[in-house]
Amino acid sequence: MDLSAPKEQILGIVMRLSIVTAITFLSVRWLMNQIDPTNKSKKKATEQAKKHLKRITDSGKGYVPVDDLSEYELMIAAHLVHPDDISVTWNHIAGLDDVITDLRETVILPVQRRDLFENSRLSMPPKGVLLHGPPGCGKTLIAKATAKEAGMNFINLDVSILTDKWYGESQKLAAALFSLAVKLQPCIIFIDEIDSFLRSRSATDHEATAMMKAQFMSWWDGLITDSNCSVIIMGATNRPRDLDNAILRRMPVTFNIGLPRMAQREKILELILHKEPTAPDVNCHDLAKKTDGFTGSDLMELCRSAAVYRIRDFMSTEGELPSTSGATSSDGEIFHDALRPITMSDLENAVEKIRASKMLCVPIQMPEASLDVE
Ligand SMILES: Nc1ncnc2c1ncn2[C@@H]1O[C@H](COP(=O)(O)OP(=O)(O)O)[C@@H](O)[C@H]1O
Ligand SMILES: [Mg+2]
Repeated sequence: MDLSAPKEQILGIVMRLSIVTAITFLSVRWLMNQIDPTNKSKKKATEQAKKHLKRITDSGKGYVPVDDLSEYELMIAAHLVHPDDISVTWNHIAGLDDVITDLRETVILPVQRRDLFENSRLSMPPKGVLLHGPPGCGKTLIAKATAKEAGMNFINLDVSILTDKWYGESQKLAAALFSLAVKLQPCIIFIDEIDSFLRSRSATDHEATAMMKAQFMSWWDGLITDSNCSVIIMGATNRPRDLDNAILRRMPVTFNIGLPRMAQREKILELILHKEPTAPDVNCHDLAKKTDGFTGSDLMELCRSAAVYRIRDFMSTEGELPSTSGATSSDGEIFHDALRPITMSDLENAVEKIRASKMLCVPIQMPEASLDVE
């Protein structure tokens, strides 16, 4: 009897079946990847992360082999900021000298010189730092300058990457945030507008959100209990009262970055204007007196608006030859350009303009009676 024919047939069938199975598997995987809406962003994030990690290795700030990182850690690594890419230094911040000194003593030095503090538990760097105060007063500036000065790896966490994901996905990303930070230590995790993510837990919280917050805190506690770990969570918020008490407890070092007082406003104005061509009549002290209630960002806007007036003047005389008569700036330098220097009256006009726009931003209070529903 000839058994070779069915044997060959069976082998052929098995071969064909295996090929069909492999093709089906690859097609389904390809299809799943195409359907996954985050596929493109994941790929981009991975590439970005690889670039960041290579720079960290090249600059000797740590060695994290890319192959050792999970897909989620790579997605978080895309949010790394190299200190060399941060342009803000302490010199760009005016009127907050006390806060800067405090930060240097309590956060930066203990991280940079662990050897000095080895024997003192009291001088260990804090695991949580909170910057709070009204918007536009320099919280983000301070966080950036801290990362720059400390030369620490800096993860600028965009909270939406944790909150906009599918259920389960966000928890894996949060876990990856902490595990990556530990691999990259010393490292700062900066969470701007931390209240939007870790506000007081309430009964109306979605179950997934509540779980996520609880897990976030338990990973954070892991950092706190590990005394050898140099990972600091730095949060900034305009609404510290909205923060969960449990979060506040985990951020023992807090800085109130309030509205600048007169002397601070004067320093901010001097800083903004010191490289600009200004007329001799410009007086930052007088200007500071006239800008009560202005934030640092209002003062920046004020100077920007004042600078526009001279452009307007230039435009209205366009066609004429640029004046080379030589306007004098506040530091005596002569400007041979077409634009006249910024004058005190430009700045005073801008004060009125900014004040008017600030009035528009004040929330309209509804009279209480009109809220009654009959
Ligand atoms: N103390 C300050 N010194 C210099 N510039 C400031 C200061 N505070 C605010 N600014 C200006 O206002 C802008 C917004 O500040 P930012 O740090 O983003 O405020 P916040 O994070 O508190 O909302 C800065 O980019 C800067 O131009
Ligand atoms: Mg900010």
